[in-house]
Amino acid sequence: MKLDLIAGARPNFMKIGPIIKAIDLYNDSNKDKKIEYRLIHTGQHYDQNMSKSFFEQLDIPDPHVNLGAGSGTQATQTAHIMTGYEKALTEWTPDICIVVGDVNSTMACSIVAKKAGIKVAHVEGGIRSGDWTMPEEINRIVTDSITDYFFTTSEEANKNLAQEGHAKEQIFYVGNTMIDSLLSNLNKLKKPDFFDEKLQGDNYLVLTLHRPSNVDDPEKLAEILKVIEEAAEGTQILFPVHPRTRKIMETLSIDYKNMILVEPLPYLEFIYVVSNAIGVITDSGGITEETSVMNIPCITLRNSTERPETIRLGTNELVPDISQATPLIHQMIKGKWKQAQLIPFWEGKAAERIVDLLSQMDISAIRK
Ligand code: UD1
Repeated sequence: MKLDLIAGARPNFMKIGPIIKAIDLYNDSNKDKKIEYRLIHTGQHYDQNMSKSFFEQLDIPDPHVNLGAGSGTQATQTAHIMTGYEKALTEWTPDICIVVGDVNSTMACSIVAKKAGIKVAHVEGGIRSGDWTMPEEINRIVTDSITDYFFTTSEEANKNLAQEGHAKEQIFYVGNTMIDSLLSNLNKLKKPDFFDEKLQGDNYLVLTLHRPSNVDDPEKLAEILKVIEEAAEGTQILFPVHPRTRKIMETLSIDYKNMILVEPLPYLEFIYVVSNAIGVITDSGGITEETSVMNIPCITLRNSTERPETIRLGTNELVPDISQATPLIHQMIKGKWKQAQLIPFWEGKAAERIVDLLSQMDISAIRK
């Protein structure tokens, strides 16, 4: 079997890493039935701290191909990834193209593969926020509409796919490869160099913001930062600033009192600061999964989530409007928060299950 593994943006790397490890492990003991693969980096993210540091820390091999797509508008970026991947397919033809998550690289490569007659497998398929203003929701729906094999993370995802008419035989509930990465790295976490100097002990919150709906409008972003600073008075807020957010923040003139701004952190440092924090305020989806598994309180500044299991079983609470955030931030600081329960199959073996399923697939049916 031949696979293309697609990774493009920061949250993809911790999802693809465990799959590569599981394939390598499988190949070690199945020398006559090896799974060949090509790792394709689309280049959607390219900075040291948005891409390279994740490859280094998660021990992901150098990509076989880098499409160098880079930044741009939604259409420009998607188009660059598509033309790059189409060319890469003329050099090597996989049986299955494996895409992960919901970023532009996910959708772009799935379309190109499907049109080239290659089967598509979507890791984290089926999750839905119901919010069509999010580019990620469009990416999820387009990708899933042409996906052949769904490797899902939750019961909710399975239900969504069934409701959309996908056959049971296409859907495999495997768990969460991002949590595979988390659990296998918990004993390797790194304290950031600035930690002792900038933070007064473990009495701090972590903040991350990068959703266009929160950060692209300077007034809205300023309001969010003001409310959080005021609500957390007396508690430090560690804010690793995403490049998209930094660009807008440079246009604001805010005198930050208890907010500590740092560059985006490498994986092991980021999980370290989250695991030692009182709580996290974020608009990321992946972070709500990680905080749920680590039982760290989490507030999500969005009006919907594609990961309802993090609310039902985890530590996540949605705050649709920043004007409602203050009482919850106070509650978080006081340590009054729900306790996480186990989310089924989020125990570190999702990638192993994926490779096991792939190895049992009928290759002649796939090539039909
Ligand atoms: C993308 C994903 C989002 C994911 C997020 C994680 C889409 C539609 N969005 O959003 O789902 O949660 O990644 O970060 O795919 N930039 C750099 N260096 C980099 C990458 C980006 O400076 O290495 C800057 C560029 O100026 C770029 C901006 O950040 O314009 C945004 O990057 P982009 O990939 O367009 O989207 P994200 O907001 O990162």
